[in-house]
Amino acid sequence: MDLTAFFKLNYGLYVIPAMDGGRASGCVVNTLVQVTAEPARVTVAVNKENATAQAIQNTGFFAASVLTEDVPMDVISLFGFRTSREVDKFSEVPYQIDDHGVPYLCEGTNARFACKVLECWDVGTHLLFLAEVTDCEVLGTGHSMSYAYYHTVKKGLTPPKASSYQKSTPKTTGWRCTICGYIYEGEELPPDFVCPVCKQPASVFEKI
Ligand SMILES: Cc1cc2nc3c(=O)[nH]c(=O)nc-3n(C[C@H](O)[C@H](O)[C@H](O)COP(=O)(O)O)c2cc1C
Repeated sequence: MDLTAFFKLNYGLYVIPAMDGGRASGCVVNTLVQVTAEPARVTVAVNKENATAQAIQNTGFFAASVLTEDVPMDVISLFGFRTSREVDKFSEVPYQIDDHGVPYLCEGTNARFACKVLECWDVGTHLLFLAEVTDCEVLGTGHSMSYAYYHTVKKGLTPPKASSYQKSTPKTTGWRCTICGYIYEGEELPPDFVCPVCKQPASVFEKI
């Protein structure tokens, strides 16, 4: 099988927030899809290990923010490479709260959706949620970020928990961050090195 065929698929990029017991979580996904118009329904695949998957399962609600091309990479680092179990992500970005009490982004986004879970399927590494859209709103005129734009223009990485992750064979020697895939080029990794993408310490790096 030529797995690079999967790179020919097109996606957008989204932040999926949820709120569980007063604690907000949220993660970047590329797997939000509209499945029907009447009724308005979407699906999203969220890795079982993500704090956000747990929060959606517990509460039955999530939001979706469509990311735009001008979204700061820091926002993607925060929501796509760190876990809400360790960091209060919404303390670092402007947000508003929807009718389900779920926060959604106000910057670096052009639309938001409020979603109520109808069904959840265990599809292996991920949970696939089918949800009814109970409210949605256009928030700006910026271009929606495509997955291709994220990779080719923003030079973004994809972590192992993303549905579309593929382990690449590095063309260089050095050290790879096992959390986000960032490559440090060089024989010796400084012991106090901190990954510039996901902010993890040198101990999570592996020699390549
Ligand atoms: C470009 C990109 C695409 C991603 N796509 C998905 C996805 O479709 N599903 C998913 O579960 N995680 C995806 N992730 C990974 C999560 O965003 C990441 O594991 C996050 O740190 C989980 O945060 P949480 O533990 O606070 O929920 C993606 C990350 C990036 C950067």
